[in-house]
Amino acid sequence: MRFDIVSLFPEIFSGYLGESLLSKAIEQQLVSVNVHDLRKWTTDKHQRVDDRPFGGGPGMVIQVEPVVRCVEEIQQLGQQPGNIILLTPTGKRLDQKLVEELVDTPRHLLLCGRYEGFDHRVVDILKPMEISIGDYILNGGEVAAMAMIESLIRLVPGVLGDEMSNVDDSFSSGNRILEYPQYTRPREYRGFQVPEVLLSGDHQAIDDWRKAQSIERTRDRRHDLLGESDDGDVDQKTS
Ligand code: ADE
Repeated sequence: MRFDIVSLFPEIFSGYLGESLLSKAIEQQLVSVNVHDLRKWTTDKHQRVDDRPFGGGPGMVIQVEPVVRCVEEIQQLGQQPGNIILLTPTGKRLDQKLVEELVDTPRHLLLCGRYEGFDHRVVDILKPMEISIGDYILNGGEVAAMAMIESLIRLVPGVLGDEMSNVDDSFSSGNRILEYPQYTRPREYRGFQVPEVLLSGDHQAIDDWRKAQSIERTRDRRHDLLGESDDGDVDQKTS
């Protein structure tokens, strides 16, 4: 899977790309990430890519021209033009279902906005998919781009060491319930014990306990995920 990121702050990505699962995936050539500085595509002698909004109002707007030129040039760098994604709080909310749809596309161009966002003609001309990672405002699209990349690469075959480890996760395909709590050694810490059932070796009892914990957690924290009938019966899959 190939990612091309367009940002005004490309340095934000350098630490991120060198760490953990993502750096291993890059090393194994399962994933490639190319970061592009939008300022390279401006013709302004002061390297500016933004201007004041027509109609007035606070802040600055990223100009259409450098963005379109940048994207069209970057598209030529790969075997296919790829999926253009604009990260914006006004986009469609990213969830696991959307991640699973996007993973079928082998190339994504991620446009990270700053300030008051992009001139709307970027959308008219490039017709990107507009995506938000949640109902809160970040300083720009960079953190959102990292979240997207991370959620996508986890589904690229070979990236996760243990192929099964995202099957059980909260929100994995068809799973609309939160994951149960996990424990590891020691068995007791500051008086807090690991639940006895997890030490029992009884796999059926462990499965039942985990399912019950998942349902309780989901009911408590994300009631919206549970399709509950009026009598309180849960009719969602738990695994
Ligand atoms: N840029 C600023 N806030 C954002 C958000 N919540 N999602 C995606 N991009 C953003």
